[in-house]
Amino acid sequence: MLMMFQLCQVMVILISFSSSITLLASDQLHPGEVEALRQIGKAVDEDGQLSLKFVDRCQQSGVVETVLTSAPPNLEGNNTIECNCSITDDNYCHITSFQLKDYSLPGRLPPELANLTYVKKIDFARNYLYGTIPVEWASMKNLSSISLTANRLSGNIPGHLGSFTALTYLSLESNQFSGVVPPELGKLVNLKTLILSGNKLVGTLPEALAQIKDLEDFRVSDNNLNGTVPEFIGSWSQLQNLELYATGLQGPIPLEIFHLDKLSDLRIADMPGPEFQLPNSPIERQFLVLRNINLNGTIPENAWKVETTLDLTFNNLVGEIPPTTIRRQFTFLSGNKLTGTVSDSFLQNSQNLDVSYNNFSRAPRCNSSNENNINWFRSSSSNNKLSDLLPCSEISRCPKYYRSFHINCGGQDVKNGRILYEGDQDSESNAAARSYYRLGSNWGFSSTGDFMGDNNFNDNKYTLQSNSNISLVDFGLYATARKTPLSITYYGYCLENGNYTVRLHFAEIQFTDEKLYNKVARRVFDIYIQGIQVQKDFNFTEEAKGSNKNFTRAFNTTVTDRTLEIRLYWAGKGTTSIPKRGNYGPIISAISVCSGYRTYCEEPEETSKKPIVIGVVTSAVFLIFLVMGVIYWKLCYGDKYTRERELKGLDLKTGSFTLRQLKAATDNFNSENKIGEGGFGSVYKGELTDGTIIAVKQLSPKSRQGNREFVNEIGMISCLQHPNLVRLYGCCIEGDQLLLVYEYMENNSLSRALFGNHSSIC
Ligand SMILES: *[C@@H]1O[C@H](CO)[C@@H](O)[C@H](O)[C@H]1NC(C)=O
Ligand SMILES: *[C@@H]1O[C@H](CO)[C@@H](O)[C@H](O)[C@H]1NC(C)=O
Ligand SMILES: *[C@@H]1O[C@H](CO)[C@@H](O)[C@H](O)[C@H]1NC(C)=O
Ligand SMILES: *[C@@H]1O[C@H](CO)[C@@H](O)[C@H](O)[C@H]1NC(C)=O
Ligand SMILES: *[C@@H]1O[C@H](CO)[C@@H](O)[C@H](O)[C@H]1NC(C)=O
Ligand SMILES: *[C@@H]1O[C@H](CO)[C@@H](O)[C@H](O)[C@H]1NC(C)=O
Ligand SMILES: *[C@@H]1O[C@H](CO)[C@@H](O)[C@H](O)[C@H]1NC(C)=O
Ligand SMILES: *[C@@H]1O[C@H](CO)[C@@H](O)[C@H](O)[C@H]1NC(C)=O
Ligand SMILES: *[C@@H]1O[C@H](CO)[C@@H](O)[C@H](O)[C@H]1NC(C)=O
Ligand SMILES: *[C@@H]1O[C@H](CO)[C@@H](O)[C@H](O)[C@H]1NC(C)=O
Ligand SMILES: *[C@@H]1O[C@H](CO)[C@@H](O)[C@H](O)[C@H]1NC(C)=O
Ligand SMILES: *[C@@H]1O[C@H](CO)[C@@H](O)[C@H](O)[C@H]1NC(C)=O
Repeated sequence: MLMMFQLCQVMVILISFSSSITLLASDQLHPGEVEALRQIGKAVDEDGQLSLKFVDRCQQSGVVETVLTSAPPNLEGNNTIECNCSITDDNYCHITSFQLKDYSLPGRLPPELANLTYVKKIDFARNYLYGTIPVEWASMKNLSSISLTANRLSGNIPGHLGSFTALTYLSLESNQFSGVVPPELGKLVNLKTLILSGNKLVGTLPEALAQIKDLEDFRVSDNNLNGTVPEFIGSWSQLQNLELYATGLQGPIPLEIFHLDKLSDLRIADMPGPEFQLPNSPIERQFLVLRNINLNGTIPENAWKVETTLDLTFNNLVGEIPPTTIRRQFTFLSGNKLTGTVSDSFLQNSQNLDVSYNNFSRAPRCNSSNENNINWFRSSSSNNKLSDLLPCSEISRCPKYYRSFHINCGGQDVKNGRILYEGDQDSESNAAARSYYRLGSNWGFSSTGDFMGDNNFNDNKYTLQSNSNISLVDFGLYATARKTPLSITYYGYCLENGNYTVRLHFAEIQFTDEKLYNKVARRVFDIYIQGIQVQKDFNFTEEAKGSNKNFTRAFNTTVTDRTLEIRLYWAGKGTTSIPKRGNYGPIISAISVCSGYRTYCEEPEETSKKPIVIGVVTSAVFLIFLVMGVIYWKLCYGDKYTRERELKGLDLKTGSFTLRQLKAATDNFNSENKIGEGGFGSVYKGELTDGTIIAVKQLSPKSRQGNREFVNEIGMISCLQHPNLVRLYGCCIEGDQLLLVYEYMENNSLSRALFGNHSSIC
């Protein structure tokens, strides 16, 4: 009695630790199934981390309670083990459905499951199970659904799967299956859904598959198949969904496929093959994705009637966009040769419209109320390149030419060493068709695409924030990233022409190791710089050797027309359903672009006070020699050069200021800022943009003494080593203007230093 009581207490404790709700026990499970459950628990939870246990009763609600005594707190798996007490008349309850998903279970796929003879449905999605599909399962005559999505199952797809004749649903998505697709699958004549995407399958699709007459959903994306798209797909008359992204298969695509009249969701992408014209098919589809498959000619009439997503990006389509009354969520036409203009009715009915990289004849019709979800980037080519890049902006000419830009992707401004990485985060979160440029800087981005499969149109899925506390080197840059479902171009404009070094910084901050099943996630994409593919099937996580690790890749490139484009493109490879469906696409943490072959660089006017002060002493010494050289040269060759040319010869690099900067600092040499006047010019007080107070000595342009004074001044200042004395910050030589910039000193010390007896100081 006492023992019973203690046992109960243990049970209560166990259950109170569990993540599931306790229900009243009612009926006894069949003892064979209780034993089988125990063995299954041992197999899938091999190292006992979860202490997975099953209660031996079928609850009134028709489920078997599962107890996880030591589940980590972030584990939000779904264990739904259904049972039925009236399926037989043997007075036992039997398990009818077995689902343990999203648990990161590290063990093997259990053959013991075959002892649950009444099971119809098995779902082990998003675990970390190894092994292959056990032949024993074939004995479950009523087994109709198997999902093994996102595990690490490997080897060939076993031919014995062909004897699971009651199967209607089979998903082996995102595993490591290799070898060919076995012809035995053709025996699964009851199949409605067959998903083989995200494996390493090779060879051709076997003709035998043609026997699966009732197939409604077929997906075989991201494999290494070869051969052409088989004709028999066009004979699957019940087909509703077809997804062929980066299968490895080649075109031509049998035109019958486009005429299947139940196919409301057709997606084919990244398939090489001959050019062909998309036929007009009678069906009005929900989704039509025909990306990068060499379509030519015009877009047929019915394509414009697609209801949710129309994606015809990166083909060779020509023609004009017709007016429309169809209101559609996503229209992606990027990367074609479409011409004409986009009609008002089309604009008004487009919720997210991407027409970037086309050949429209006229500049876009800009309207601030819909600018945010229409991407016009390079949609037309006018004579003004800048307005092609920055459509709907006021900027039409470069205020200056830059030699670098630095971006912290998906985040805010971040200082990294001396370099400011400007954030690309703006208030507009829905970036399905987005063109953005940073005001006052020289870069922007153009982003295209919706994350498909997540049934969510409006979340901000385009930026990522690291939620891990693992410390990354330079964490600031890697704490955020920008993500794209299709294509993103970061571009720099108003750049000096020449050679540049592009450094791209990556870190996997989404597929992190805190969930074991994230380890089977793969992120693969292509990189283009100046339109040239510089990386194919890039998977930086492998190169960085894990998640939460930084990885940088550098490229050399050349700017010839003031612009630089870096494009990341998702070519259909990698997993798309981890940690949830709709998670895929390129990510990037930061970009650094510098002219020449330097690793770090700054714009000249970003110079702050510190480097100048350091530079003053060395440059002053250097100057003396140069000035002496100039005097010598001048004595020898006479006075036939203007002051500007003469002094430009000094090549004052460090500590030089632009006239514009000094005008800004002194309020255009406002007389209110004048603090003194000497024989050869005036002295003004000013403030640089970084807050440094300066004194600017303007040498009178007319003064013939100017040069000598200037030389004396530099000579004098170079002797000033005492901390209390005035320091030369730099100078400015532009046109007729000769200006010296000093540290500003309060009271009389400045004028004493400037106008006092020079010889007494030196
Ligand atoms: C499971 O089934 C096998 C035969 O398929 C049998 O040998 C074994 O005893 C069964 N296990 C249990 C616990 O019933
Ligand atoms: C768990 O899975 C079952 C069956 O697939 C589903 O009905 C249920 O909503 C899921 N529960 C949660 C919390 O996701
Ligand atoms: C249990 O099985 C019986 C007989 O097959 C069926 O009529 C009943 O609907 C099932 N109950 C549940 C909850 O599925
Ligand atoms: C399969 O299901 C049918 C009814 O759905 C049932 O009569 C039969 O006993 C089941 N067979 C097995 C082996 O579970
Ligand atoms: C497809 O791949 C298989 C195995 O790698 C090879 O034997 C066969 O010749 C290939 N077929 C084609 C059409 O390339
Ligand atoms: C499309 O390409 C094919 C193959 O090159 C060619 O025969 C056909 O004329 C092209 N169609 C159009 C409209 O350009
Ligand atoms: C701007 O767009 C809104 C909504 O689409 C429309 O009502 C308005 O007429 C447009 N304005 C111009 C000037 O095109
Ligand atoms: C773009 O269109 C113009 C005529 O509007 C044509 O001359 C030019 O060749 C086209 N460019 C491309 C790349 O098709
Ligand atoms: C840029 O690099 C190329 C070789 O990659 C070289 O031939 C060229 O001179 C360089 N241009 C400049 C301005 O340095
Ligand atoms: C990752 O990329 C490297 C080189 O870029 C390649 O050798 C490797 O096969 C790729 N791995 C995957 C899983 O694509
Ligand atoms: C990570 O960043 C550090 C510091 O910037 C650098 O030294 C290291 O090489 C980087 N690692 C990789 C793989 O790029
Ligand atoms: C870029 O070019 C420079 C000079 O030719 C070379 O030293 C450097 O290794 C190149 N970098 C890359 C990433 O190719």
